[in-house]
This record gives sequence, C-alpha cells and structure tokens, in this order.
Amino acid sequence: MRIILAPMEGVVDYEMRDVLTQIGGYDRCVTEFVRVTENNLLPNRVYRRFSPELANGGMTPAGVPVYLQLLGGNPKSMALNAAKAQKLEPPGIDINFGCPSKTVNKSDGGSVLLKEPSRIGAIVGAVRDAVDPKIPVTAKIRLGFSNHDFLEEVVDNIINAGANEVCIHARTREDGYKPPAYWSSVKQVADKSPIPVIINGEIWTPEDAKLAKEQSGCTDIMLGRSAMRCPDLALIIKADQDAQPHQALAWLEVLEIVLRYLHNSENRHPNFVSNRSKQWLVFLQKRYPEAAALFQRIKRLKVADEVFTEITAYLKTVD
Ligand SMILES: Cc1cc2nc3c(=O)[nH]c(=O)nc-3n(C[C@H](O)[C@H](O)[C@H](O)COP(=O)(O)O)c2cc1C
Repeated sequence: MRIILAPMEGVVDYEMRDVLTQIGGYDRCVTEFVRVTENNLLPNRVYRRFSPELANGGMTPAGVPVYLQLLGGNPKSMALNAAKAQKLEPPGIDINFGCPSKTVNKSDGGSVLLKEPSRIGAIVGAVRDAVDPKIPVTAKIRLGFSNHDFLEEVVDNIINAGANEVCIHARTREDGYKPPAYWSSVKQVADKSPIPVIINGEIWTPEDAKLAKEQSGCTDIMLGRSAMRCPDLALIIKADQDAQPHQALAWLEVLEIVLRYLHNSENRHPNFVSNRSKQWLVFLQKRYPEAAALFQRIKRLKVADEVFTEITAYLKTVD
C-alpha cells in the first residue's frame, strides 16, 4: 500500500510537506494547485514558489517525491504550461479536476469539468503528449459534479488519454466535504482499471483505511485533513497493516513539530504564523484536547513573536 499526502491549498505547503514527510509513512506528496488560465504561460518562479522542492530534485528534505498540480480547463494552455514546468523536472504532474471552489469553477477549472468527460480526456491527453513519457501524469477527480453519472466515462477518458494514475475523492462537488465518502462507488471503475486508482476521502483511522480499500477495491490511499489532525497517521496505518507496534505521538511531541513548522514559516507574510498556528490547532484538537486549550490562549494574537512567546509560556505550565 502506498500512502499519498493530499494537496491542500492554504494548508499543505512546502514547510508542512517537510515536517509531515519527516515524521514518515508518506510515499508521495502533491503541491497546492497551480492555476493555469487561457493564454497564460506561467514563469518558472511560480512553479518554484509552489514547489520549492524543485531545487532538490522534486523531493522533500526527507526524500519523498512531490508532484506538481496544475488546474485549468484549456487543453492547449495546460499543455504549454506542463511542457514548460517539466523542464524543472518535477517527479510527476497531477491535474486537478476536483476543486469545488465557486471562483475556480466559474473560471473553467476544477470539478465543473466533471460535467464534460470529453474535455477531461482532451486535457489529460494534451498534457500527457506535452510531457516526457518518463514523467508520470496523474489526475485527481471527484465522483462527479452533482451525481455519479459520468464517473465511468471520465475515468475511461483519463485512462485512454494515457494517464499513469487516477485519484478519486469519493464525493461529488455537491457533497462538498460532508461525510460520508462513498468508497464503494469507486469499486466499479477501480476493478477494471489498468492503471492504479487511489482512494481518497474521510480516512481518519487505520480501520477507515482498511474499509476504504476493501469497499473501493483500491490498494493505495490519499490522506488529507486527517494528516493534519494526526501527523503520524500514515505510520499508524502502515504499522497496523503490517501488524507492527507503533507508539503514537504524544501531545508534546506534536507541539514540538508544530513549532518547527511555524519557525520554518517565519519569513512568510506577517500574519502567516498566527493564522497557520490557529488553523493547525483546530485540526489537532479532535485528537489532542490539549490543542483546544492552547488555541484559546493564542486565538487573539496576530504577531508571530507573540505566538511564540505564548507557546513558550504554555510549555512551562505543562513541563
Ligand atoms: C483546505 C483544503 C484545500 C484543498 N486544496 C486542494 C488542492 O489544492 N488540490 C486538490 O486536488 N485538492 C485539494 N483539496 C482536496 C483534498 O486534496 C482532498 O481530496 C479532500 O480533503 C478529501 O480528503 P480528506 O477527507 O482526507 O480530507 C483541498 C481540501 C481542503 C480541505
């Protein structure tokens, strides 16, 4: 089983991929989506900003490959940008057909394309043809826009266009992020697919991972929000699969990782550290109730230094 860390815009950035892949268990990451609009050839600095790993052979410091994700609805423009991006030698290029954002969908990208299986085929085919055959091209989709009617056709078109893998977030655009994820709806396409199909959505525990694989017929899984809630989840799932013991991270170990992430992000924009620290504590609090208490202490802080001072003061109370 491979475990892939999901792309999450505004959450899973370079620094987050770094700390999570250092903890371990992940076989691949995907960048936040890079928006490709019609007639716009993006400069290299944009790709390097989304994937600083490109300076390191496309690998996180822990050595995990990071695929570059493109999002757009125009086959020609996607192909031109993919052709340019591949010169920076990403380990793979992923195409986003799942983004539910109204703004993105209105400007012809993301999940709205699930209504047009032939265009999805054209985009994947154009990108595949534009990129060196040695570089894998993958697609990330949902079950559909408002129903599952086109799922089979979408997946067939992705396969026929020459994609190397497809990842399915087992919900429609209309389902949003509401549980459940419909893992069993993936089975009919996974069972007959000649390329790997990766199951994604609502995998929070080793038991969920087992069920998701069983019900979808997939071997590999992708973890999104659960990776934020439980930073060692990939290790926990792999240990469970191999019937090996795993000592789950204690709260203070997790907090040390949060601090490392925040310190590595210090040179971002002024509110970055305070925003991201609150965001991560909200994810963590379901598993670590201590995170909720720390969140209360920092929730009104805006400046990075104040956040670090408060966390240091908090650490003195729990040592
Ligand atoms: C805040 C947020 C940002 C996301 N950004 C992206 C993105 O940039 N590209 C993408 O393909 N999916 C994106 N997704 C979808 C996730 O990759 C994943 O498919 C989804 O969260 C379901 O998996 P989960 O239930 O494990 O979280 C995003 C999801 C969230 C919650």
